[in-house]
Amino acid sequence: MTELRQPLRARDKIGVKISALGTYVPPRLLTNADLEKMVDTSNDWIMTRVGIRERHIVEKGVATSDLAVEAAKKALAQRGLEPSALDVIIVGTVTPDMFFPSTACLVQHKLGAKDVWGFDLSAACSAFIYAVQTGAQFIATGTHKRILVIGADVMSSIIDYADRATCVIFGDGAGAVILEPAEDDSVGLIDFIHEVDGAGGCFLQMPGGGSLNPSTRETVDKKMHYVRQDGQQVFKFAVRKQTEACLKLLERNGLKGSDIDAFIPHQANLRIINATAERLGLRPESVIVNIERFGNTTAGTIPLAMNTAIEQGKLKKGSLVLMASVGAGFTVGAALLRWAF
Ligand code: UT7
Repeated sequence: MTELRQPLRARDKIGVKISALGTYVPPRLLTNADLEKMVDTSNDWIMTRVGIRERHIVEKGVATSDLAVEAAKKALAQRGLEPSALDVIIVGTVTPDMFFPSTACLVQHKLGAKDVWGFDLSAACSAFIYAVQTGAQFIATGTHKRILVIGADVMSSIIDYADRATCVIFGDGAGAVILEPAEDDSVGLIDFIHEVDGAGGCFLQMPGGGSLNPSTRETVDKKMHYVRQDGQQVFKFAVRKQTEACLKLLERNGLKGSDIDAFIPHQANLRIINATAERLGLRPESVIVNIERFGNTTAGTIPLAMNTAIEQGKLKKGSLVLMASVGAGFTVGAALLRWAF
């Protein structure tokens, strides 16, 4: 496991807080009733097995950078900042507008941010948590002051809408946060545990279009440009590793599950969330769930769930938050923080 040996504060680094949040989903809805007309599925199966009622998907021509920019504008407006106040832009995504230039460059240009640098981060469903921790290092070391971290995906661009095993699960969406130095220890990032396990790569992947299988007529005919998933393998790994990472994080910070005010997990399957919450001993009211409305938006789920927590009055200044994710790779993420606004 790759992890901080000690929490940031203990190493006399500058504290880091999330100072603003913005989210965006495209207006078009894809409901279970719509999917019933497209593949052999039912609202009952999707609600029972996954917990999704509807998801938002983009119109043709709308890309990940468009969603990311809308979310970023809201975060900047909430903090009263101009785009040029940013130092770094990090975009977590598995559906970049294109391989290159990076979506971070496209977002910078569309925002009109000046004197800023940035890059994309690929960690699938863990991308937002990883990007937050990556951005935090620039502040903790004192080299930068304002980092825009975005989790955004247009999953509908890599989904086969004839495959009922995957098309019912995913949606499109984006969330953005701004990271800034924390004024004191009462708010901000506390600790994290991340892990990757490449042995699980075969269970969730998009095999075509990269350097191993460059796009050809054959790769397209074989639908290699779409998401392929062994759902049961991913499910089992997700429950086990998400729980393990969270328990270790709680333990080494002297916390119990019942101390958490808001558990903000990746929204892949309601049954994964509930199984993890039960194993962690969380208070039911602390578990943030919005998968019913948005489906699995990959890098977008955690900031979208942060927004849901705010809407539900469960995130206030000082609230103790536990974020958790498992995604393709496999990637595992767990992070503790105190909410700052
Ligand atoms: O965010 C990235 C990480 N991804 C995840 O965390 C996904 C984790 N996995 C899951 O969430 C679940 O495994 C799925 C939702 C993907 C699938 O649920 P499941 O309970 O594991 O179903 P299954 O794959 O075992 O399939 C059970 C049955 C099969 O039929 P038979 O063989 O029993 O006759 C499937 O063909 O359900 C069938 N099935 C469906 N039926 C109706 C699969 N998809 C559908 C569907 N509608 N959409």
